[in-house]
Amino acid sequence: MNKTELFFDKLWQNYISMTPQAKAIKDLFEAEGESILNDHIALRTFNHKKVNIDVLARPFIKLGYKEGGEYHFEEKKLYAKHFEHSDPLLPKVFISELLLEKFSDSFQQKCLEIIEKIEGMDSDDFLISGRSWDLSSEDYEMLLNESEYGAWMAAIGYRPNHFTVFVNHLKKFNDLVILNKFLKENGFALNNSGGEIKGSKEVLLEQSSTLADRVEVEFIDKKMQIPSCYFEFAKRYELPNGNLYQGFVAKSADKIFESTN
Ligand code: NI
Repeated sequence: MNKTELFFDKLWQNYISMTPQAKAIKDLFEAEGESILNDHIALRTFNHKKVNIDVLARPFIKLGYKEGGEYHFEEKKLYAKHFEHSDPLLPKVFISELLLEKFSDSFQQKCLEIIEKIEGMDSDDFLISGRSWDLSSEDYEMLLNESEYGAWMAAIGYRPNHFTVFVNHLKKFNDLVILNKFLKENGFALNNSGGEIKGSKEVLLEQSSTLADRVEVEFIDKKMQIPSCYFEFAKRYELPNGNLYQGFVAKSADKIFESTN
């Protein structure tokens, strides 16, 4: 493996340790004779200058990635950018950040306390560093009350939120209706928010996703099962110039975020 492949492999290993269903689904497709290409990975953070999108994007910029598009999520109070590489076999990187100033004082206060404790942003392993702060179940519930995303960040920390199967590359399952049916038959629950398939041929991107695995997380006062990460599937359509659309659709991503509800 070259440097870039090693970097993504490290992210993948960390992701499947938290999301065993992704490994199980990959194995399932491979047993059907498919090979899996990764369309994109997604990372989450806060819009604080210490840890914002640009900070998380640094290792990808070093690997030759460039900014693609930007996206606004009014209701979820998020902003996102995607990054892409000139090598079409490398996954796109979708990074979102929570807009802290849009939340209550107590919510902001808690997030700032967390951000203060974050270290190692310059390390290559920052994106798999999990959390370096303690959290009480009471604070988790307080954050959850205002933002599922904020609570997820506080409880899970820095690790890939999802990887995404590039559906066009599959042979038997290059249709999301067929793919979703196969997943359900094999016992995987899908995110139904906004319908199983988000987007359409008209917006050049169709996506579906599993519901997040649940993991036991240690809080100061107790352990609790909470949603961890999910697996996503993306089918892309051609632009008038014949190239596949490489961007994202905010309205669809908005619903995909709910896979960790
Ligand atoms: Ni995604």
